[in-house]
Amino acid sequence: MSRHRRKQVLLLGFMGSGKSTVGKLLSQELRWPFIDLDAVIEAGQGVTIREIFERSGEPFFRQLERAALTEVLKTEPVVIALGGGTFAFEANVELIRESGATTIWLDCSVQTLRERCAAMQNRPLFRDPESIELLLDARLPYYRLAEFRVSTEGRDAGEVTEQILRLRAF
Ligand code: S3P
Repeated sequence: MSRHRRKQVLLLGFMGSGKSTVGKLLSQELRWPFIDLDAVIEAGQGVTIREIFERSGEPFFRQLERAALTEVLKTEPVVIALGGGTFAFEANVELIRESGATTIWLDCSVQTLRERCAAMQNRPLFRDPESIELLLDARLPYYRLAEFRVSTEGRDAGEVTEQILRLRAF
């Protein structure tokens, strides 16, 4: 359980759910810094996420992700966009719960995710529409552990941000 409520908002959800776009807007509204976890990992390694996957494999990427998560959770106030898989590992969920951060799941239909992922060039875990469905099914039980769920279906980033602010959760 969280020890105390901190000025930390973590956006989680599948690739293409809008975490980075909404995170930037939300951080502007709150006047809190914004951190994109994937960008922290890329800056630390000096290569893209895709290259990390290709050169060293997913388990190594997950180690880097865990280390980066541990570091960014020291920042406050902050809005953090997690990677799509960050909140799908028990150890990371525990770390986040311990930190006392507010967790918000940006949810939308598998159909919309499929369309958005198909338009992305730089997601190593996106192979085909079927793989998205399988990965999403495996991750949903974790995503449901978030404190708040906000639907991004049919909403632009501004509307989603308003919705988050209306939660009055932080
Ligand atoms: C991943 C999602 C990506 C990135 C990496 C792995 C995943 O982040 O962390 O490619 O496991 O779903 P986004 O959700 O920002 O695309």
